[in-house]
Amino acid sequence: MNEPTVDVYLKPQQLTEALRDDVRIGLTSIPKWLPPKWFYDAHGSELFERITTLPEYYPTRTERELLQRFSGEIASLARPEVLVELGSGSSEKTRLLLDAALAEGTLHTYVPQDVSISALEDATQQIATEFPALTVHGVVSDFTESLHHLPGGGCRTIVFLGGTLGNMVPAERAEFLSGIANVLESGESLVLGVGLVTDTDTLVAAYDDRAGVTAEFDKNVLRVLNRELQADFVLDDFRHVAVWDPANEWIEMRLRATRDVEVDIRGLGMSVSFDAEEFVRTEISAKFTVDGIGSELVDAGFSVEKSWVDPDNRFALLCATAM
Ligand code: AVJ
Repeated sequence: MNEPTVDVYLKPQQLTEALRDDVRIGLTSIPKWLPPKWFYDAHGSELFERITTLPEYYPTRTERELLQRFSGEIASLARPEVLVELGSGSSEKTRLLLDAALAEGTLHTYVPQDVSISALEDATQQIATEFPALTVHGVVSDFTESLHHLPGGGCRTIVFLGGTLGNMVPAERAEFLSGIANVLESGESLVLGVGLVTDTDTLVAAYDDRAGVTAEFDKNVLRVLNRELQADFVLDDFRHVAVWDPANEWIEMRLRATRDVEVDIRGLGMSVSFDAEEFVRTEISAKFTVDGIGSELVDAGFSVEKSWVDPDNRFALLCATAM
């Protein structure tokens, strides 16, 4: 086995600086908001892994089923030599694609990228052990800024699974997708997993499960602020809410103050007040139609090779090639 390498482009200090900027901006905006990437400290990454096993949270298992069925087809379309995965987390579902691309005989290198150092270190070790034939080269960075750091050295396939593209608003998506199209050479591919618009009850339940794991995950961002910025959020002062926004076609997660709350953020030398019922938006998770995401890909400079949808029409995989 080759020892995996991990390049850290986000030093802890840069991470804290980015967090400070985001919190200063987000919590002084109206309405208040925080970017979802701050959920994923070690505890938050574990909570997310638990979410993926919940009965209500269908995206992970639906995407896994699609990958089980169609990885071979995807590998023979994309023929990856280097497989780059953005937001790789535990890399759990990616194993299916790695297996298929190894069977195709093309793959030699796996490049997982994530903001979570802990998740990435665990994942690179495990993958390197399970796939001794692969060179594993992890990258710790913010995926919106990671495109410059992608190693070349063969025909690349960029994989972006789980529906994480939905964390971006349309303008951010357009910039992100055309950024990917621009770094790819003609003939290199993008494999994208996106959640589809489905009925509201199913969507809302997926983001507000009965066991309350998503609520814990949502509130974890407050724990991160308490620890990293010496804030004094009381988690019980906030209630997790998931709402479907039909105009924007996204799920919005919010933390709603249950009473008037004054929070001191000592590390930023600021205090923030919430009126009772006021909320902070912690995540958007946009849902798509196959045609809609297809034309976003075309607008970004891709040609869509093929798409696969589960029988309940809740999740899609797309394979697109840079032109
Ligand atoms: C990791 C961004 C794909 O939006 O479904 C899960 C995160 N948030 N439950 C998603 C999430 C609440 C997830 N992504």
